[in-house]
Amino acid sequence: MQIALVDNRSHWETVYATKRVDAVSWYQPSARRSLELIQRVAPDRDAPIIDVGGGASVLVDDLVRAGYRDVTVLDIAENALDAARERLGDAGASVRWMAADARTATLPAAHFEVWHDRAVFHFLIDAVDRAAYVAQLERALRPGGFAIIATFAEDGPTSCSGLAVVRYSVEELRVAFGDAFELVASERESHETPSGARQSFIYCTFRLRASGR
Ligand SMILES: C[S@@+](CC[C@H](N)C(=O)[O-])C[C@H]1O[C@@H](n2cnc3c(N)ncnc32)[C@H](O)[C@@H]1O
Repeated sequence: MQIALVDNRSHWETVYATKRVDAVSWYQPSARRSLELIQRVAPDRDAPIIDVGGGASVLVDDLVRAGYRDVTVLDIAENALDAARERLGDAGASVRWMAADARTATLPAAHFEVWHDRAVFHFLIDAVDRAAYVAQLERALRPGGFAIIATFAEDGPTSCSGLAVVRYSVEELRVAFGDAFELVASERESHETPSGARQSFIYCTFRLRASGR
């Protein structure tokens, strides 16, 4: 288990050390869709929000610009967080940066109003890893809080960054998150990569049932 975690970290750190952050296939100049979905479920600018596997995404810039005051960005690759932190400069002074694995990070219990993940969960190809991720999510979200999860759709790519992925339909993602979560919304997106290719994504918004399972 430990060896797999380290290997995963070094894979991603190598990616961010060798590629420009705006040249990776998942790059978006604006995280508009994620921001809109977050604003829909958490209009309160004091709501605690975590972007899990946020990497060097500009979502944190968009959140700060929209006035959110309690933002955490977690990623296994510290150099990706460094790039985002440097880009934000003083504007990011209130952001918490966590270099950690989403499955094992020490996160406050029943705390976050929104857990956002774009293009991270689909890399968990083993059921044990998916279970660890979902358990962490259930622990860290406050009851009634929201998880916004974006993965490759069933007609999306079969791999990314040289790693195999699991592709999901909305129903398959709902089943993967289990009965503790209620699916409240879903939509599709055709993401255009920096090289002009198209990738099908689904975005699902789940609500952690107040009563648990
Ligand atoms: C495809 S990128 C997506 C980055 C960002 N969410 C975005 O939309 O631009 C996947 C990200 O997940 C991070 N990652 C991969 N496995 C992780 C894990 N187990 N825990 C935390 N972060 C992870 C990688 O370092 C990378 O930044």
